[in-house]
Amino acid sequence: MQLKVLVLAGDGIGPEVTEQAIRVLRTVAAHGDHAFTFEDGLIGGAAIDAAGTPFPPATREAALASDAVFLGAVGHNKFNALPPSERPEAGLLALRAALGGFANLRPAFAHPALADNSPLRPAVIEEVDILFVRELLGGLYFGQPREWNRATNEAWNTMRYTRAEIERVARVAFELAGKRRKKLTSVDKANVLEVSQLWRATVNEVAKDYPEITVEHEFVDACSMHLMNNPRRFDVILTENLFGDILSDEAGVITGSLGVLPSATIGGQVDLFEPVHGSAPDIAGQGIANPVGAILTAAMLLRHSAKLEAEALAVEQAVRTVLESGARTKDLARGQQGTILSTQEMGTRVNDALIDVLRGQAESARLTGVTR
Ligand code: IPM
Ligand code: MN
Repeated sequence: MQLKVLVLAGDGIGPEVTEQAIRVLRTVAAHGDHAFTFEDGLIGGAAIDAAGTPFPPATREAALASDAVFLGAVGHNKFNALPPSERPEAGLLALRAALGGFANLRPAFAHPALADNSPLRPAVIEEVDILFVRELLGGLYFGQPREWNRATNEAWNTMRYTRAEIERVARVAFELAGKRRKKLTSVDKANVLEVSQLWRATVNEVAKDYPEITVEHEFVDACSMHLMNNPRRFDVILTENLFGDILSDEAGVITGSLGVLPSATIGGQVDLFEPVHGSAPDIAGQGIANPVGAILTAAMLLRHSAKLEAEALAVEQAVRTVLESGARTKDLARGQQGTILSTQEMGTRVNDALIDVLRGQAESARLTGVTR
């Protein structure tokens, strides 16, 4: 299969973790004789430095001409004084808007091997498997008007959604819930916000088309508590842009590190893949960042853009094997004895394990072929 990937490594630890993710994609391509091509582009602070803007026109064109976009991370504190519209993050938001993907899938899975990494008790996080479906193109991130009026010392942002915007992301969430444990929790703040009342009414409308799915509504404050108290109660969590941003970081507590969480954004012209973690400028360039979130994001790219489900599973299996072997990057080491792996070494471990899994898959396919 052919796949043209635009790689936007971005800022901070973005380039380091992206390198390991792309390595894994190259391994899959070589193994299966797939023609994956990778082109590099500029975004975020790196683009401001090189081209004076966080989302250069060349990046937009290359993104729209690709089959998938892989993004490392954006953001650097040296741009903190800039208004939101000029910051590195604005580049990412403009990219998301240009690609049109509105459903951001953020799986949060409690790896048994990392049970001791979470500050939550192992019994609480055991078997947690949540899929956040975060609306990505609406709400406070994009709503107009928005302004900081320095003369009057007032500032405002607008949380705005249309029924159509809620309905399309709700449908994605219901479809995915149908392939999982058939439970959907819609998260809002309908006791205070009109937007949330429209959200809830729309989700209830869509729910009529999915009678096999159990639907519950939760207020975002209560949901954030339940996520820590009893995360197993959740299957698919559907929510608006900012609530999803906050809750998915909170899910990093369950998984033991934000560094292992992947994401995929679907529904637009070109799908976008980015780990959930940020650019972590404080540890950038030291080779200690955890590449697992980026590598699992590459697995999502294989699944959603390349339609290579077996290969996506192989990458996920390789990550599991490596974590079970005790391999740890610094964020996962939590008082543990033994060697702490660098970003590169962790990438090598996963890559080696992946080659084994892919060979195993090929071997069992061959044996099945023989016995047939
Ligand atoms: C995320 C990030 C971004 C967001 C930032 C970098 C704009 O926090 O992907 O979760 O808020 O969406
Ligand atoms: Mn975030």
